[in-house]
Amino acid sequence: MTKKRLLTGDRPTGPMHLGHYVGSIKNRVRLQDEYECYFIIADLHMLTTKNTPEDIFDIRTNAYEVAIANMACGLDPNRCTIYLQSAIHAVYEMNLFFGNLTSVPRLSRLPSIKDMARAAHLNEMPYGLLGYPVLQAADILMPRAHIVPVGKDNQAHVEITREIARRFNFQYGDVFPIPDYLVEGDTLVGTDGDAKMSKSIGNTIYLFDDAKTVGKKIKGMYTDPKRVHANIPGTVEGNPVFSYHDHFNPNTAEVDDLKRRYREGAVGDVEVKEKLTIAINNFLDPIRERRVEIEADSGYVEQVIYEGTMRTNQIAEETLMMMKKAMGLTGVWNKISRKGRKRLDKQQKAAAAADGAQL
Ligand code: TRP
Repeated sequence: MTKKRLLTGDRPTGPMHLGHYVGSIKNRVRLQDEYECYFIIADLHMLTTKNTPEDIFDIRTNAYEVAIANMACGLDPNRCTIYLQSAIHAVYEMNLFFGNLTSVPRLSRLPSIKDMARAAHLNEMPYGLLGYPVLQAADILMPRAHIVPVGKDNQAHVEITREIARRFNFQYGDVFPIPDYLVEGDTLVGTDGDAKMSKSIGNTIYLFDDAKTVGKKIKGMYTDPKRVHANIPGTVEGNPVFSYHDHFNPNTAEVDDLKRRYREGAVGDVEVKEKLTIAINNFLDPIRERRVEIEADSGYVEQVIYEGTMRTNQIAEETLMMMKKAMGLTGVWNKISRKGRKRLDKQQKAAAAADGAQL
């Protein structure tokens, strides 16, 4: 039996952090055997809010960082496909066709789009940013994906993708499966206690931070602000230090003991943080080592992206042809080009004959 296709991915905006691991990478590693997986490095989506020449130059390192982070965490490039969105020409065309199958009011209502415009300090909505979900629909429908793991902020985009796929199938004939979304992992709080770890807020621990940097960041972490002394009972729930212990410390007996003593006012923040630093560095060590191994083979990551992009291009061209056939566009061009070509041939033959006669 052929496997169902899965597509998901990230914008290449910077190095990957623990929030990415908890929110998505962990799930991907788990799903890679069950599905035929496509991982997009969505640089065209990044352009909707970041598009200066400097931003574009940075895609080189950021795309590499996205790929190596996923690989170091366990994505196996022999079993899945990692590709660069901007190198898939068919997606640009699909984006245009799909733009006709949804409406401006439908897109304008999406909170995610308004949030992105606000975060990028844009006074007016760019046409491209409004079309962000349409472009995402093109990504998802390009390999005719069945399942799309996404975070909460992207669920509405998969909803739109489903509407567009239904609309296309109804209007032109069945080409696309209607993709389902899969709710991704947990949202990791930031080191500052903010709801979400995010590079733009600056509350991150990166997957490739060295052990000392991790220690420093954890030392500065937000905990229970009421606890000015170690003997004041503290709150564990919603406390980022304990949230990280839950995610990254496999020694549950140690974590339970720390929580109990924290609630009783019988442990200092320092001990809780020191143990967390050890746990997170233990978690990150094999990921760091894997990166060193991967990079010992110079050009390997680039080859993975190159081969993945070539593979994806084939499927994209195949789907685009299916779409154009279903729409009747290939028929239009075939008819015009056949007749036009025929007349041009005739003219060229006549000209050649006239040349011959003159000699
Ligand atoms: N929108 C995703 C993000 O927030 C990136 C992305 C682009 C994506 N195309 C996709 C995710 C297709 C899942 C499927 O970064």
